[in-house]
Amino acid sequence: MARMSAPHSSSTPTRTVRKAVVPAAGLGTRFLPATKATPKEMLPVVDKPAIQYVVEEAAAAGLDDVLMVTGRHKRSIEDHFDNAFELEQALAAKGDAVRLDAVRDPARLANIHHIRQGEPLGLGHAVLCARRHVGDQPFAVLLGDDLIDPRETLLSRMLDVRDRHQGSVIALMKVPPEQIHLYGCAAVEATGEDDVVRVTGLVEKPSPQDAPSHYAVIGRYVLDPAVFDTLERTRPGRGGEIQLTDALQELAAGGTVHGVVFDGLRYDTGDKADYLRTVVRLACDRDDLGPEFVAWLKEFVSGLESGGADRGRLAA
Ligand code: G1P
Repeated sequence: MARMSAPHSSSTPTRTVRKAVVPAAGLGTRFLPATKATPKEMLPVVDKPAIQYVVEEAAAAGLDDVLMVTGRHKRSIEDHFDNAFELEQALAAKGDAVRLDAVRDPARLANIHHIRQGEPLGLGHAVLCARRHVGDQPFAVLLGDDLIDPRETLLSRMLDVRDRHQGSVIALMKVPPEQIHLYGCAAVEATGEDDVVRVTGLVEKPSPQDAPSHYAVIGRYVLDPAVFDTLERTRPGRGGEIQLTDALQELAAGGTVHGVVFDGLRYDTGDKADYLRTVVRLACDRDDLGPEFVAWLKEFVSGLESGGADRGRLAA
């Protein structure tokens, strides 16, 4: 599969999508007890909460309006994307410009709004909660558990495909058959373009024998506002929840859904082992931390490889 081409710049005149919706109402049970009093979206990935990467991704693709769909116990998300007057004053008084910028950055990324889902009725319902804010325009949905490496241009590519094909665009990634039950799965047809497919059907978390393909839906969507009427009609599906996948299946049956096939770097921070891999990878890539951390990591790994009782003490 070809790598994606360069994105259109955010000033592309034809681009109609300006708003992003970030569902963040989940309970985060996979990370208990860390998520007992802290939203999972606020867990740090190196030194930024996971959700900040998602908002940075939206902003980098030119989306300047971000609506968080939150629930109870999510106040810290609001605080994170707000000004922190006392902290900023203290850092300014110390002349600590670097940290002052780090504190101010989240609130400067986009116009950030918050609404509450109220009842945990599923991802489709969370998206429906955004209806009034989004209005009659296409919009992006970014799921916080999926981090796309900041060097990738997936969202811009999806916006470009939406501009050319209209309708809705979903992000797809090939996964091994034994993992397909964790995702929405798409039946697809080729188009003339390497990384763009027509989506002919969708099924939420199928068993491997029922999966129509190896293409998993990953957490980036550019949706036509037609999805709202469809969601209003969508009955609870898998897990008793209103599934976004089920609404998109109806739109796909009408021939209005395309998929962008992504083969770049994606991290599932909702999974503990993948979360740890994400932190290590992104720390290795950092100019400030990387060199020292990589040197330590190499020593640590060679200690693991030689095994034995020494490994806890190695590379301390
Ligand atoms: C959701 C969607 C699923 C999609 C996945 C991507 O599932 O329902 O279709 O494949 O996100 O991360 P969740 O992981 O929230 O259960």
